[in-house]
Amino acid sequence: MTNIAVVGAGTMGTMHAASCRALPGATLAWVVDEDPERAASLAAPTTARATADLAEALADPALDAVILAVPTPSHRALTERAAAAGKHVFCEKPIALTLDDARAMTAACERAGVRFMVGHVVRFFPEYARIGALLDAGSVGEVGVVRASRVNAYPFVGRGWYSDFAWSGGPILDMMIHDLDTLRWYFGEIARVYARGLSYTPHRAAVDYALAIVRFANGVVAHVETSWAHSGFRTSIEIAGSGGIIRHASDETTSLRLEQTAPAAPVRGVNVPHSPLAESPYQTELRHFLDRIADGGPILTGGDEATRSLAAALAVLESVRTGRAIPFTDGWPMLESQGLVSDIPVTV
Ligand SMILES: NC(=O)c1ccc[n+]([C@@H]2O[C@H](COP(=O)([O-])OP(=O)(O)OC[C@H]3O[C@@H](n4cnc5c(N)ncnc54)[C@H](O)[C@@H]3O)[C@@H](O)[C@H]2O)c1
Repeated sequence: MTNIAVVGAGTMGTMHAASCRALPGATLAWVVDEDPERAASLAAPTTARATADLAEALADPALDAVILAVPTPSHRALTERAAAAGKHVFCEKPIALTLDDARAMTAACERAGVRFMVGHVVRFFPEYARIGALLDAGSVGEVGVVRASRVNAYPFVGRGWYSDFAWSGGPILDMMIHDLDTLRWYFGEIARVYARGLSYTPHRAAVDYALAIVRFANGVVAHVETSWAHSGFRTSIEIAGSGGIIRHASDETTSLRLEQTAPAAPVRGVNVPHSPLAESPYQTELRHFLDRIADGGPILTGGDEATRSLAAALAVLESVRTGRAIPFTDGWPMLESQGLVSDIPVTV
């Protein structure tokens, strides 16, 4: 049994607390939030203790691991504190806002001998995992062109820190990074990116949008779109190869459907909807983390992978900011800036 502290009782903390409760190998032991009421309310229906003081949870010798679901600028400090206390760390994506922070987090966990996983959950979505398996099996032959899109509404209300570009990095660091990470997983390292977008214009205060052209070292070219200018969340991906096409669109996905004219057992009461998924991707990623803690095996989305995906997102941002294509060497972009630049350049 792995005793877990969820740190940050907001959107993702609530999701991870539910996964802890659903997985037989996990116990939600602590909920930590700097807002004590939030911590108390997420802990209330469980046996978990609530606190506003991370040190209190880290001092618990029975605590094995922390899940960090706090705004991105806090990821490094909390990872380092948890690792120094000897706790395994699962940290939400993006790993950090700078490559220095990302590398320091990975090094801190290595030094402390604790496992470190970053929540690049798209790799655990069944559709995206299945696409990976189909590509590995050569189902569409040699891949040429990819289109990937991840769009959402602008996060105005009640999500103050997302709309602060210096905290979130906007949709490129917060959302496009998912597709950059997944495409790296499918196709290997990136050779070059070129992108256009609104992140360095005054428009970003109300809408943001970017389109990146990503060339992989193996020759695949991907068009990757992200947006906070739509009305709601949806994703899609289309992969064209010499032997066919794979497509997925979240708003076209058909749920599992079973329509029986003569059900085996009579229906009691009203019909209620059922999820077609046995397990949510957030549970799947947490199960991966628990299994790798238990067996010491390689973590799919560890510190180095997450740092490379951060580097790719920073390259997209730098291309948007400078108007230049950004070349990569051995999977690492040649960047002017190793972290998020949040100022809007003055144009004359
Ligand atoms: N994997 C995904 O699909 C996905 C989706 C959304 C967000 N995220 C990431 O998850 C992280 C959290 O996002 P969210 O939407 O849950 O944020 P949120 O604003 O909903 O919740 C953050 C919570 O953390 C608390 N908090 C802030 N600083 C703290 C600190 N130093 N110590 C303790 N508590 C603190 C806040 O009080 C708040 O309750 C971000 O890094 C975000 O990018 C990932």
